[in-house]
Amino acid sequence: MTDSRPGIRIIRWLKIIVSVVFATVFLLFTIASIRTLSLDVNIGLQLARWEKTNNLSLVLDGAQREALVARFKDAIRVPTVSFSETHSNTSALLDFDTLLRRAFPTVFSSSLVQHELVANYSHLFWVRGSQPDLEPYLLLAHMDVVPASEADGWDAPPFSAQEIDGFIYGRGTIDDKCAVMGILQALEYLLIRGYAPRRGFYIGLGHDEEVSGYNGAVNMARLLKQRGVQLLFVLDEGLAILDGVISGLDGPAALIGVSEKGAATVKLSVSTAPGHSSMPPRETSIGILAAAVKRLEDNPMPRLFGRGPERATFQHLAHKFRLPLKFVMSNLWLFSPLLGRVLEMKPETNAFVRTTTAVTIFNSGVKVNVIPSYAEAYVNLRIHSAHLLQEVLDLIHLTVADQRVKIDLVQGFDPLPVSSADEKSFGFQIIKKTVLDMFPTVTVAPGICVGNTDSRNFKDLTRDIYRFAPVWFKPGDPQRFHGINERISKKNYEELVVFYFNLIQNFDLQQLPEPHSSVHEL
Ligand SMILES: *[C@@H]1O[C@H](CO)[C@@H](O)[C@H](O)[C@H]1NC(C)=O
Ligand SMILES: *[C@@H]1O[C@H](CO)[C@@H](O)[C@H](O)[C@H]1NC(C)=O
Ligand SMILES: *[C@@H]1O[C@H](CO)[C@@H](O)[C@H](O)[C@H]1NC(C)=O
Ligand SMILES: [Zn+2]
Repeated sequence: MTDSRPGIRIIRWLKIIVSVVFATVFLLFTIASIRTLSLDVNIGLQLARWEKTNNLSLVLDGAQREALVARFKDAIRVPTVSFSETHSNTSALLDFDTLLRRAFPTVFSSSLVQHELVANYSHLFWVRGSQPDLEPYLLLAHMDVVPASEADGWDAPPFSAQEIDGFIYGRGTIDDKCAVMGILQALEYLLIRGYAPRRGFYIGLGHDEEVSGYNGAVNMARLLKQRGVQLLFVLDEGLAILDGVISGLDGPAALIGVSEKGAATVKLSVSTAPGHSSMPPRETSIGILAAAVKRLEDNPMPRLFGRGPERATFQHLAHKFRLPLKFVMSNLWLFSPLLGRVLEMKPETNAFVRTTTAVTIFNSGVKVNVIPSYAEAYVNLRIHSAHLLQEVLDLIHLTVADQRVKIDLVQGFDPLPVSSADEKSFGFQIIKKTVLDMFPTVTVAPGICVGNTDSRNFKDLTRDIYRFAPVWFKPGDPQRFHGINERISKKNYEELVVFYFNLIQNFDLQQLPEPHSSVHEL
């Protein structure tokens, strides 16, 4: 029996709609719950099946440990500051060269090691492997540091390497002399113990990373390219072990950077007729430019959360989040738009959500009673992995939308390709294994670097670039990076030496064991 009265019909339709909505929500909730509950099982199991490759373990007595810390402190005391692309402390770089040769005599005299200077100050080492058919890899680090002044409020002078409560304070302790010294110290110990690698490898120590690496890294990459070198992978600085830094996450997470955001510097300029301030035009060059800049700030680049490698980060960490976040992270297919909106509220996490726009320089005007004929501003953008430089430039033109504002690209590059992080990925899995052997409670996940490193200059030489060192970051530590009170604990520096000592031996593995199931299907 049908009822033709319109009121009843509407109520029936409403009932159907409400039922459908309920059913859909229930279904989504059920799928999401199953995914949440089924997560814990999979990740990292295959590691138990690995053959033990490193035969040498590093055992040091008290005096040896004092000596390795003393060498590291000496390195911190040399102020290898990069002031600008054209201004480095070259006398400090020469001092640092002397220091390296003195600290690691075996590295510099071993018949297995070839050493050369590149662009006068960067160091390139080739450590010959006994099996030339194994593709070599490259360990990268940089010797230069950003400026630091005690007046900024350091607890110890920034080039003093002073020890406070078990921490060594100083510019470069984490960025990046811990890796420079850690890698060479590990190699020194290995060579002293008679180790000869099966797989050959390079070590590149740049001298101008903090000012783009145009001399050091660029020339090292060019040299290797000329020699026809192909690299299995590159390992550089970048991400670290985050302990209590990601809110809602249980336990520490080692993030291995598998990509870097792109970057662009764009110049906006406006030229108008000059004039006297007593008879001003309706709009001045400053007003026109300010309006354009305001439009860029008011209209951020689109939200792209979940479309780059940040998605894999959250998927790998999902099982370590507490409820309800665990529920959200395990179901990014459903929640990534929502999560994107939450993450964009803080500058630190907004960087993972989109291409960021920062107005960094604004110049105009010279005299209080003259209307300036010219105004310029510089905008620095960091490009999300799901964006291309050209798309970003097109969006800037669309947003500025004013013919009077000239838009020039000063420099820029696309986001770096995303390196592999699956079960077949040699570099990633060996780094992961080495981390887990040392720190079994850590969860290892691929991550994205929002800053740039020297390694980007090597992208034509390899498919896989990883950015990681096992430096422990607790809450507050990320701010020390390029900030005040940069420091590393003595214990952590020693861990770095052990890490590279084990890592180099683990890289001797000819190939990874066969994966036993497709466990990373998430
Ligand atoms: C490790 O030890 C095994 C046997 O104990 C030996 O065959 C292998 O060559 C050693 N590997 C290295 C890198 O020394
Ligand atoms: C440069 O390094 C030298 C040590 O080689 C140091 O004495 C000097 O103060 C440094 N100069 C600047 C400007 O930092
Ligand atoms: C290296 O030093 C030489 C001599 O001091 C100089 O002519 C050359 O420009 C330097 N090269 C680089 C890349 O700095
Ligand atoms: Zn660095």
